Amino acid sequence: MAGTRTFTMIKPEAVAAGHAGKIIDMLISNGFRIVALKYTRLSHKEAGTFYEVHKERPFYGELVDYMASGPIYAAILEKENAMEDFRKLIGATDPANAAEGTIRKNFAESKAKNAVHGSDSDENAALEGAFFFSSREQF
Ligand code: CMP
Repeated sequence: MAGTRTFTMIKPEAVAAGHAGKIIDMLISNGFRIVALKYTRLSHKEAGTFYEVHKERPFYGELVDYMASGPIYAAILEKENAMEDFRKLIGATDPANAAEGTIRKNFAESKAKNAVHGSDSDENAALEGAFFFSSREQF
């Protein structure tokens, strides 16, 4: 079912601030079905591997430190046109540019601490989902 699944993480600062429940509620009320959900914490090594695609970026070290700094929620979501619709729901990477009503507008602190991750392609969504979940954990 190409194009119907995407992957997200609720990032450490949003979890620490107590926003996870409200964010999960926003996903569900916007039509995303939860296929898999896990409360977990990335080791520094795992965060580095997950974000390896950004290795050459100047913010890579900061990003990896931050993503390993506390527990997160990881989830696979399902909806028609999931990847694009989810990126609309989360808003721009920098919350200063995020549209009203988006998750990042409501909950993100900064471009780095931006509350949620959203996959940028169906291929990456599949890889990122498989990073966290076995097929037995997907329903
Ligand atoms: P995410 O959707 O998880 O994908 C890559 C992440 O890198 C992004 O969200 C931000 O958290 C982070 N990021 C992108 N640009 C910057 C930046 N200029 N400075 C710090 N972090 C950034």
